[in-house]
Amino acid sequence: MAIEILQTHKLLATCEDALASKYTVHRLHEAADKDALLASVRDRVRGIAGGYVQAELMDRLPKLEIIANFGVGYDSIDTQAAKARNIRVTNTPNVLNDAVAEITIGLMIALARRIPQAHQFVRDGNWLKGNFPLLTELNGKTVGILGLGRIGKEIAVRAQAMKMRVVYFGRHKQHDEPFVYYSDLTEMARDVDWLVIIAPGGKGTEKIVSRQVLEALGPEGYLVNMARGTLVDEAAMVELLQSKALGGAALDVFENEPRVPQALFALDNVVLSPHQGSATHQTRNKMGALVVANLDAWFAGDPLISPVV
Ligand code: 8YV
Repeated sequence: MAIEILQTHKLLATCEDALASKYTVHRLHEAADKDALLASVRDRVRGIAGGYVQAELMDRLPKLEIIANFGVGYDSIDTQAAKARNIRVTNTPNVLNDAVAEITIGLMIALARRIPQAHQFVRDGNWLKGNFPLLTELNGKTVGILGLGRIGKEIAVRAQAMKMRVVYFGRHKQHDEPFVYYSDLTEMARDVDWLVIIAPGGKGTEKIVSRQVLEALGPEGYLVNMARGTLVDEAAMVELLQSKALGGAALDVFENEPRVPQALFALDNVVLSPHQGSATHQTRNKMGALVVANLDAWFAGDPLISPVV
């Protein structure tokens, strides 16, 4: 008898195929009657593939042993509730570092040089009427990284290749890192040209990029959010971008995805991206393989590959 697992949202086809070849998979997101599905599998489901798992769902699956999240960020899972029920949680770290770091630099250049706007300028025939405005460059500028973790470090490497100076803010100074550390985010925002957010979402970081931080970044400052919309006071950000009290923003994530504040659409000092950090075949395949590998390890009685709880 195959082990039964619940899938909570659509996953990559390769990942779904691998899961289906080894497990009996119940797809919660496809069920017309979710309550009926949960009631019918209640005493059989031992694992979950995917995120968006709150305590209520855990309570409805008393045999649940493991939640294998698709993504490095696991803020959509109530890890405290999992811990209290002795349910293990895994994520997909490392395999996406390069993809996220690469597009971070891409979005920074796109914003500095207004690449999407320039593209539109040419398409609209405006070049015939005059040249595109002069803009700015990354080299010689300072970038402050909020969250010098695994991805943050890859961004730092690439920012240095752009001839930028790197500083960082985080909970602790990392003594083996060569970059200047700030223990105060507002102070760092005041000192940098670019602020890149790449810290975990969830309760501990909610709106830490406050109005005060954004004002400190200021009219010459650029914000880049590659983490979660929840880290930023989005309403304040929109307002400051509109008034140009904040220089610009490159945003891959939003508070209420896929809904993006309409006011941003009218602004020429923003570059918008639909949560594309890890969105390549190469990286998503590796993330999917890691979801499956964690489940396989657990059910084989082997150590988990990337546990968070
Ligand atoms: C998403 C991400 O998980 O890894 C993360 O934390 O934000 C992304 O890779 C991805 O959108 C999967 O749905």
